[in-house]
Amino acid sequence: MAEKNKPELPSLACVILAAGQGTRMRSELPKVLHPLAGVPMIKHVLKACAELKPERIVVVIGPGMDAVENAVSPTPCVVQFEPLGTGDALKAALPQLKGFKGDVIALFGDAPLVTREALTTLQRKRQETDATVVVAAFKPEDTSPYGRLVLDGKGELAAIVEAADADADECAIALCNGGIMLFDAAKLPSLLDQLRNENAKKEFYLTDCVGLARAGGDICAVAIMSANEVLGINTRVELAHAEKLIQQTIRRQFMLQGVTLIDPDTVYFSADTKIGRDVVIATNVYIGPGVEIADRVQINSFCHLEQVRVEEAAIIGPFARLRPGSVIGAGAHIGNFVEIKNTEVGQGAKINHLSYIGDAFVGSKANIGAGTITCNYDGFRKHLTHIGANTFIGSNTALVAPVKVGDGAYIGAGSVITMEVPANTLAVARGRQANIEDWARRFREQQAAQKKEG
Ligand code: UD1
Ligand code: MG
Repeated sequence: MAEKNKPELPSLACVILAAGQGTRMRSELPKVLHPLAGVPMIKHVLKACAELKPERIVVVIGPGMDAVENAVSPTPCVVQFEPLGTGDALKAALPQLKGFKGDVIALFGDAPLVTREALTTLQRKRQETDATVVVAAFKPEDTSPYGRLVLDGKGELAAIVEAADADADECAIALCNGGIMLFDAAKLPSLLDQLRNENAKKEFYLTDCVGLARAGGDICAVAIMSANEVLGINTRVELAHAEKLIQQTIRRQFMLQGVTLIDPDTVYFSADTKIGRDVVIATNVYIGPGVEIADRVQINSFCHLEQVRVEEAAIIGPFARLRPGSVIGAGAHIGNFVEIKNTEVGQGAKINHLSYIGDAFVGSKANIGAGTITCNYDGFRKHLTHIGANTFIGSNTALVAPVKVGDGAYIGAGSVITMEVPANTLAVARGRQANIEDWARRFREQQAAQKKEG
């Protein structure tokens, strides 16, 4: 959304620093790939950047971080060969910024709650102040790990002192560096060239650019952010905290867009979830990645959905599991203890109780009886089941795939269907019932007599 009555912002380049090891996650997976709302955390950062339509985006990764490169593709990556500090990391991206004029924002791949608004605030600040560097400032409850922002008498930013290098007075400063920094692209290469690593961590601190810019007579400014906007993730405890925050945001957005959540705190969404209007979601529902839910759908309690499209006014659950590759047609009913995988369910079809329908097509208005199972796997391969429109599949039917049931066919309960059932045919595939008259009475008498004798 263009901001009204405000001058246009300069061109933007975003550099996402993600070369750090993330050792405190204690994980095989690079930290920035840990999912948040079902999506790798670095993708949230990329999304916030992309919303501003930057001229360039670059991700700085460490050696061997191919998985990160794949996850962010087609965004270009550069490798910082040794983790020599945030200043050195940004320097690694300079070749990708050649010829770029405008604002360069450096942000962190492990701070995924950043918003486009936060980034715009930094750009506005530079526009208003003509600063060479603008720093995202915040006031954390616990300041101890953060760089402290030293302001001068005019309220301009004079320096950033890293926690490890701060003296007692500096430690007492409440205003801290949130980590996101904006630079005038024209000045950035010379500032990075001047960085030295004579400090407590023996690192090239990006934050030293502030002192260097000031020494060169330039202005530096701060833009105040909320603690959540700059929240960094170092451990799985912080990951869970970020998940809580992001879920709250997504739930609120959906409710404001016309989705009823009966108990919002118990419903989990993914960052890419799409939902129409007048959808009602009951308690304890998990919506994984790749889910689209159309208008007027009702999702009852305890459902699990992943990579599925649910069309208008369908009713799902309670206790339904919709697995990847499925489409649930308009007005269809998927009931309790039903699992659907890689299946297209036609309009108005009903699969209401205790079924597994996988690798199948279910025609419109088909009625699938309780306990129906598609036997889709022979131990080696998966096979398809085609169930025509307006069919009636009796309870406890096993459909041994590959198999086809023609439109309008009936299947007797308890059948094991191994051959095609032509349209409008009744198929019964089970042992015939045998009734032996008076058998039960004779049996009871025999048993009673034996008991007396014994
Ligand atoms: C940084 C800031 C600090 C700020 C804090 C906010 C510096 C010197 N300090 O400290 O002022 O309060 O963030 O959270 O910038 N990275 C690389 N290559 C490196 C080092 C880091 O790519 O050589 C990346 C990391 O992957 C991470 C980010 O840069 O995403 C920040 O690095 P980190 O070591 O966490 O910086 P902090 O010490 O937290
Ligand atoms: Mg950090």
